[in-house]
Amino acid sequence: MPTWAANYTAIRHAHSHLMYFGWATLALMALIWRFLSLYTGRALPRSVHWQMGITAVLALLSFPAFWANGYGLTQIGSVSLPLGSMIATLNGLTWFHFAWLYWRQSSGLARRPLPVQLWDWAILLLLLSFGGALGLVAMVVTGAQSLFLQQTFLHLFLDLFAVGWFTVALLGLLWAWLGQRVALPRRLPILPLALAIAPTFFLGISPALVAPPLFWVAALANGLAGLLLFWHVGALLRRWVHLPWLARFGVAMLAVHGLMALVVLWPGVWEWSARTQLRVYFLHNLLLGWMSSLLLALIVEQLGLGKMRWSRWLGPVWIAGVGVMLLTLLGLGMLQFVSISALVLLRAAAWSSLIPAAVAVGVWLASVRLNQAAASTRSG
Ligand code: HEM
Repeated sequence: MPTWAANYTAIRHAHSHLMYFGWATLALMALIWRFLSLYTGRALPRSVHWQMGITAVLALLSFPAFWANGYGLTQIGSVSLPLGSMIATLNGLTWFHFAWLYWRQSSGLARRPLPVQLWDWAILLLLLSFGGALGLVAMVVTGAQSLFLQQTFLHLFLDLFAVGWFTVALLGLLWAWLGQRVALPRRLPILPLALAIAPTFFLGISPALVAPPLFWVAALANGLAGLLLFWHVGALLRRWVHLPWLARFGVAMLAVHGLMALVVLWPGVWEWSARTQLRVYFLHNLLLGWMSSLLLALIVEQLGLGKMRWSRWLGPVWIAGVGVMLLTLLGLGMLQFVSISALVLLRAAAWSSLIPAAVAVGVWLASVRLNQAAASTRSG
């Protein structure tokens, strides 16, 4: 790493928090607002625009706040401040604001459709995960030193946020989008899925800190969550022809995630995997393979970019880039079984990561142009 970016752990935190707060959370909220207003038949109030604006600004601030010292203290003048924790807390407050507005907007619904039920539980898991962020702040403020507590709070926050809020909310969005095209299944696991996901964050903690009974509770819940995800995947397979390629790829990566939840039940696999780099693969399979592919698919559809000629290339290029990146990350995690050097795999992962970044920039530029064209048509 160059000297201006010497604190690699802090930079990882800056990356993960901006991705969580800025990309995933903002996109999920924007899409939930869009689909919810179709269910309620009411325009969104001004307070929603304020909520989204404030959430966006605070999400952006998380990047500089975490960059220097992550969750540690940063000296500003004569005071030391836990900048990362402070910004994470402020971001968390905006999620309560979102939850409150969501509840007000959706409470008038005579019947809660399946996607809305999924969002209800996703938002509850989001608020629960915030308890982890508060715990981390409390530890910094009180100077508590327990490694187990620190790891518990960190993973309650990061893991429940990703597997709980992201995955359940995204399933709700996918079903809402599909519901505009085909009939939805009459029954899908929602509450059991949310309950099964809740204790799985313990698997993110180092095996040295987790007692066997706690591991088994978390691993069995995780396995059950994997099976319930397969239920959703099975129902999606029956509507496969209606899904764009990007969404199909995302759903396939969700199935891989469900499969891994079952593999972890095999005795010894979890302890072994914690000694490898598989965590990075596991995280990016979920966050880039499943979540970002699907968010991108929904954004492209909602913005109407799918009608543009160049957008035919978008799916294949994204899938190729993310596919290579995930395969190289898997290779890095399984180094003891593959005969390719780590340096080659790292280089391939780094270069291939430019492709999804370039696709994201392309989609953003296209949406800006589309907005400008719409604005000039209105004024003309
Ligand atoms: C082109 C896309 C991406 C690239 C190149 C990338 C790169 C990286 C790298 C290099 C790490 C550090 C791995 C390590 O040494 O431990 C990392 C960690 C991480 N990334 Fe990504 N990432 C990408 C997309 C995403 C997305 C879309 C998300 C979430 C929405 C995400 C969330 C995370 C998280 C949560 C961590 C772990 C942070 C930690 O351990 O503190 N990444 N990523």
